[in-house]
Order: sequence, then structure tokens, then C-alpha cells
Amino acid sequence: MPKPLIIVFPLLLLLLCSTVNGTQQQQRFKEAPQFYNSPDCSSILNDAESESNDDDDAAIFCSDKAVHVAMTLDTAYIRGSMAAILSILQHSSCPQNIAFHFVSSASANASQLRAIIFTSFPYLKFRVYTFDDSAVARLISTSIRSALDCPLNYARSYLANILPLCVRRVVYLDSDLVLVDDIAKLAATPLGHDSVLAAPEYCNANFTSYFTPSFWSNPSLPLTFANRKACYFNTGVMVIDLDRWRDGQFTTRIEEWMELQKRMRIYELGSLPPFLLVFAGKIVPVDHRWNQHGLGGDNFRGLCRDLHPGPVSLLHWSGKGKPWARLDASRPCPLDALWAPYDLLQTPFSLDS
Ligand SMILES: *[C@@H]1O[C@H](CO)[C@@H](O)[C@H](O)[C@H]1NC(C)=O
Ligand SMILES: *[C@@H]1O[C@H](CO)[C@@H](O)[C@H](O)[C@H]1NC(C)=O
Repeated sequence: MPKPLIIVFPLLLLLLCSTVNGTQQQQRFKEAPQFYNSPDCSSILNDAESESNDDDDAAIFCSDKAVHVAMTLDTAYIRGSMAAILSILQHSSCPQNIAFHFVSSASANASQLRAIIFTSFPYLKFRVYTFDDSAVARLISTSIRSALDCPLNYARSYLANILPLCVRRVVYLDSDLVLVDDIAKLAATPLGHDSVLAAPEYCNANFTSYFTPSFWSNPSLPLTFANRKACYFNTGVMVIDLDRWRDGQFTTRIEEWMELQKRMRIYELGSLPPFLLVFAGKIVPVDHRWNQHGLGGDNFRGLCRDLHPGPVSLLHWSGKGKPWARLDASRPCPLDALWAPYDLLQTPFSLDS
């Protein structure tokens, strides 16, 4: 195998991902309304000394009383991120107690992303961190959907390193979803004595299909799941105990599987299977209402999907199709109408009065 190819490949990945970004720089977004805490929200400042706004802002990023939300931020998906943020604030009883931790690629223009968020959400408590995605690009092998190969997609495995040490619990969310319920309920999911992660899990899904025959036929690899009731879960909505993650060095464990994947193909999809290898069967199951996933539709034929039976707290357009793209193309799926009210894109025809 000629060495130069191996080196060029991660660069290609970065280029592919940023080409997608380059096409969408003209978007303008409306300003969202300001959202206020209800009277019974706990004050983040209770145990701090000062009461100036600046200290309030600083205090929330380390407060256990805040709800910490982590999302990635890039120009390709920013319209989705904006809708997600708006939906979170709108359905929260204590919107001023939410701290947003945005992770952007080191190759992105972070000040531009910051400015876009600030223009639509001037009151939002947020930080933008940069993720050195060239480090992870080296670990990525190609998958069937190239969008899944963007290194920023792997940022969720590095949150424990990216976020400040004082942040001990975080809700990670993808950018193609909206909440229709209070995120504080999800964030408060009990993680028991030793669980690292909580997410809705799906034990009816065919777990075997997430790994290749060479994984299952290996004499030792399938033993990974011995004594575990391993079920599929979607990594787009997760509650993570960052202290336990750091103690258990789970980033390294995920990277070890990615290293193995580079040597022998043990799975097809992008960032999901390493999570399954490390966590499946060990997570705290969250009610399915918190991830009504798959609304992006069928990966191959682009068919529309319906909701799963039961209540809905979070709608997730996972899959190939995205509601904003289908709405722009005037070919929306029926459920895309539930995303549209959160769209902050400023169109030439939607002039604010
Ligand atoms: C980043 O974006 C800002 C504001 O949009 C712009 O002024 C600046 O030139 C950009 N920087 C780079 C390196 O592109
Ligand atoms: C699960 O998937 C595997 C591999 O894709 C397949 O061989 C098996 O028949 C499937 N099992 C069921 C119950 O569908």
C-alpha cells in the first residue's frame, strides 16, 4: 500500500466536509424572541458572591444547576441548529438556566458562527469551542454515507475533553431535531451508581446488522458483547456523565475500536458502531418519546417516515433527508410541517415588521 494515499485521505475528508459548508454562506437568520425563567426556577447565582450580569454569565458554564447542552456547529447544518436551539428555549420552563456548548471544526470560522448565533439569540448563554478534527480524521475510515464521515460528527466522542472539567453532565444533541418538551426533564435522567450514558434504546432493531460478518466470525471480537444485553441506540440524543466518562477514559476506548476498524472492517456506518461497542447494554434506557428518530427518511430511496407509536418529546430527522432541504425543494414530507415553525431562516419574502 503506497503511504501517500493514507496521508492524503484525511485531508480529502476535511475538504469534502468544508465544500458542503462553502455553498451555504449567504443564509441570514431572524432574531428569536427572548425567553424568561418562570418564577420557580432555581437561581444559578445562589451560591455565588456577585450579582452582575457578567458573573451570572460566567457562573452558569460551571453550574450543576444549569442544564448543559452540547451541539456541533457548522455552516452546512446551522439552519437545523438554530431551529433546535429555538425549540429548546421555547419549551423550557427555565430557559435562562441553559448553557449551550457549541463545538465547531478547527477549520471553520468560529467568529462567524458565533456572530450568527448571537444575531438570532442575543441573550443566549453559549460558548463556541473548536475541535481539532484533523486528529480524528486520521482515525476515520469511509462509510456508506459520506456525510457521516465528516470529522465533526465524531466530536460527540470528545466532549469530555472539549468541555471544561467543571461541566459534569451534558445533554448531547444532533442538529437535525427539535424538542417539544422541557429539556430539563431529559437532563435530569437518573444515571444510577455507575452509568455513563442514557439514551433511548431499541432492542427490536437487528443488532447483528450494525457489524460486519468479519466481526461476528472473529473468534474473540463478539465476546465484547458477552454478558451484555446489547441493544441499538441512536447517538443523536444522549445524556452523558462527563465525570464518569473521564474516569473511565471512554474516548480512548472508542478510539481503540476506530483503530481496529482501520485495520479490519468491523462495521459500515460512521461514528455510531464504536459507541455501540463500548456502551450497548450498559446504558440507562430513556423513554422513546425523547428520540422519535428516522424522520429524515429512507437512506436509499428517500421515502417519508411516520412517527413511532407513543408520545413525542423530541422529533429527530435522522437519515438522509433534512426538513429544510425538502421544504426548500417544495417536496416536504408530512412531518416536516412540525419542523417549519422553528425555522429562523430569513427569506426575502418574510420581512419582519
Ligand atoms: C471570519 O468571519 C468574519 C465575520 O464574518 C470575517 O470578518 C473574517 O474575515 C472571517 N475570517 C476568515 C479567516 O475567513
Ligand atoms: C439480522 O441481520 C443479519 C445480518 O444483516 C441477518 O443475517 C439476520 O438474518 C438478521 N436477523 C433477523 C432476525 O432479521
